[in-house]
Amino acid sequence: MEIITDITALRSILRNKKSITFVPTMGNLHDGHLSLIRMARQQRTDCIVVSIFVNHLQFLPNEDFEQYPRTLEEDCKQLKNYDVNIVFAPNKKTLYPEPQETLLTPPPIANELEGKFRPGFFCGVTTVVLKLFNIIQPQIAIFGNKDFQQLHIVKKMVKQLNLPINILAGETVRLKNGLALSSRNQYLNEIQLEEATRLYQTLTEIKQFVEKGNKDFKYLQENAVILLTKFGWRVDYIELRQKDDLSNAMPNDTDLVVLGAAWLNETRLIDNLEIRCK
Ligand code: PAF
Repeated sequence: MEIITDITALRSILRNKKSITFVPTMGNLHDGHLSLIRMARQQRTDCIVVSIFVNHLQFLPNEDFEQYPRTLEEDCKQLKNYDVNIVFAPNKKTLYPEPQETLLTPPPIANELEGKFRPGFFCGVTTVVLKLFNIIQPQIAIFGNKDFQQLHIVKKMVKQLNLPINILAGETVRLKNGLALSSRNQYLNEIQLEEATRLYQTLTEIKQFVEKGNKDFKYLQENAVILLTKFGWRVDYIELRQKDDLSNAMPNDTDLVVLGAAWLNETRLIDNLEIRCK
């Protein structure tokens, strides 16, 4: 496994590769990331590239960019056991040698859900993902389903910009109690970690109600916010949306997703569950 920090060096190594699977990350790898890398192995391409880069463009000024855990050495140790060929770990100057004035405008859905509470987030994500795609030129790229809206927006970008890349989605990895793995879980103390599962439980209840035929989406959403608030959460949103385009869920839709984002003290958690109605 090679750890490359330089774009020219990376390009020269990748020039000889026939097919590349790419897993973009911000590092601090946990089982969720490792499951994406296991998926990458199954693709049987010539080369697996994992990028590790905490992208300042996708953090608002008051967010946790400085605090975000950076654990490159441990990450590389883990990746060595996973047949990863190349870790691309550029620094900020390498990826952004000058202020990034050319920015992607993501589709309007990027202003809803996450984008409503983190304005500019998807502009930052799509801009860095496109830069990484241009540098690495993979045939396949793998993103986690946990960031459901991110996955949707990346797929849209690839389609609308005619990028010859197949985007695959990896399942969310959860603890036994349902809590979705996230690097931000580390900000939580033991008591908060227990409480954190309530977001998953609340989404699960909504999923069960909808699957049993309850179509009062507004009530289900509002009730979930009231419940979480009672337990000390600050809820950004709990919303039922159509799975395919993330537009508002309608009573006759069969494939839905319930998405939630909420704060437990200073930590913001997100999660989602797909729903299939009969
Ligand atoms: O999901 C993430 O970790 C990041 O948003 C990504 C895709 C690596 C871009 O910085």
